[in-house]
Amino acid sequence: MIRVRRITTVDPLYEQECALRDAVLLRPIGYSMEAFRRDFGIDDRAEHFVAVFDHPSGPRVVGCALLIPDYPHPGVGKLMQMAVDLQRQGEGIGRRLVVELERRAFGELGLREVFCHARDDAMGFYSRLGWRVDGEQFTEVGVPHHRMCLTPPDEDDEGE
Ligand SMILES: CC(C)(COP(=O)(O)OP(=O)(O)OC[C@H]1O[C@@H](n2cnc3c(N)ncnc32)[C@H](O)[C@@H]1OP(=O)(O)O)[C@@H](O)C(=O)NCCC(=O)NCCS
Repeated sequence: MIRVRRITTVDPLYEQECALRDAVLLRPIGYSMEAFRRDFGIDDRAEHFVAVFDHPSGPRVVGCALLIPDYPHPGVGKLMQMAVDLQRQGEGIGRRLVVELERRAFGELGLREVFCHARDDAMGFYSRLGWRVDGEQFTEVGVPHHRMCLTPPDEDDEGE
């Protein structure tokens, strides 16, 4: 069974989260956790959502996403470091993580927008979840990206 949990950087699962980010997101583009920490430095202020598989030998982190609340302005949040274990992609784990992150962002935190820098390869994923493209393509860490964003459900509802 997969559970989505919110953890901090002192949680024992944080190390597994970093290993997953390194394997799925960073190493494939020639980047590293050290370089990410140096360039972005957001892990301590981010909320960490992890998808955890209850393996008989202990919990395994199979997906993660970060939310940086009130970044870069109050009322706005940034989703970063969205990753699902290569062996577990296509099972709905990414969707569950984003839904949980949205619930937290628009519910308890009361944010009015969440955005991300979507790698072009992943834009279809965010589109399926109702996010919209906002602006032109740009390059970040050597990879083409688009800004994508979502506003709370009632603000998106324009009626029929
Ligand atoms: C992108 C990623 C997070 C998606 O997670 P996932 O668990 O595989 O996605 P899900 O199974 O929850 O898919 C949800 C929906 O999005 C679709 N989808 C998933 N990845 C997609 C992609 N890359 N392009 C287009 N559609 C995609 C699925 O088909 C599914 O559609 P459905 O609603 O018709 O069923 C995962 O594939 C991943 O870690 N990729 C590598 C790292 C990466 O690119 N991260 C994003 C950086 S911005």
